[in-house]
Amino acid sequence: MDTNGSTSGNGHETNGRAAVAEPPHYALLKEKIAILKKEREAVILAHNYQEGAIQDVADFVGDSLGLARKAQGTDAKVILFCGVHFMAETAAMLCPEKTVLIPDLAAGCSLADMIIPEQIRAWRAAHPDGVVVCYVNTSALVKAECDYCVTSTNGVKVIEHIPAEQEILFVPDYYLGSFLRAKTKRNIHLWKGYCPAHAAILPERVDRLREEHPEAEFLMHPECGCTTKQMDLADEVLSTDGMVQYVKRSPAKEFIIATETGLLHRLRAQHPEKAFYPASEHAPCHHMQRNTLEKAFMSLVRMQHVVTVDPKISERAVRPIERMLEIV
Ligand code: 13P
Repeated sequence: MDTNGSTSGNGHETNGRAAVAEPPHYALLKEKIAILKKEREAVILAHNYQEGAIQDVADFVGDSLGLARKAQGTDAKVILFCGVHFMAETAAMLCPEKTVLIPDLAAGCSLADMIIPEQIRAWRAAHPDGVVVCYVNTSALVKAECDYCVTSTNGVKVIEHIPAEQEILFVPDYYLGSFLRAKTKRNIHLWKGYCPAHAAILPERVDRLREEHPEAEFLMHPECGCTTKQMDLADEVLSTDGMVQYVKRSPAKEFIIATETGLLHRLRAQHPEKAFYPASEHAPCHHMQRNTLEKAFMSLVRMQHVVTVDPKISERAVRPIERMLEIV
């Protein structure tokens, strides 16, 4: 794994949580994956929310933006994308000449499912001067209806790039949209979608953790359901990779982490001397967890499941992504 995503993961995390041993057959599976990866000329990209064992075999672990860039830059013939479907679609659109695989085709995104193309067309018709900005957590069909794409890393920069007088329609995440509206003071209309995993992070629990660990820094993902109430209290509102970078720089010894719990594997592996308290123990993304080490292995054995986007859709859907990548 490269320097940006290195973990030493051995399944024995101690800081802030009891050690959990990996199943005994995982060591052999990891060896077989390494051999198959070479045979297939494949690269393994994994999102920060993937289970620890998948992060351990990945060539790169990162956030949505980092993974899109890695997909774009790789020489590999095959990309095994250990993440959710919209992320694999983005890779497929940016690299049409490569084979993009996902371990489990059902690994979707509840937030992305909260808007469909017809709804964007109707919203645009009601706001004919509006520029439509979509979060990367959208299907290719939805992106094809949008003007700009953003990730949790670059939303402020992309919005600030749009002329100041322009009305903006933001889909689908209400909380990220609220955060961007507060930061940029722009005229942004919000779609009322949300991520169920982040919605499970409650302000009361965050308040209690902050009382119990007064020295801890509080890092929050902008998808959090409590963003609007707690944004001012957070030390930083960051993407998953933003949190990884922040923890590296910070002299603090304790952190309250308000995002999906998969990120804790990477943070704990990189900083065994620091303690990380999840703002919710109940914030796993069930879609991300559909991918397992076994399924990643089978993907390489059978070259399954190939993710493609209809070229007619891709031609339009890739535009908001490329616009974003030109800005940031
Ligand atoms: P990041 O881009 O911050 O990794 O977030 C992606 C995501 O899907 C969060 O739910």
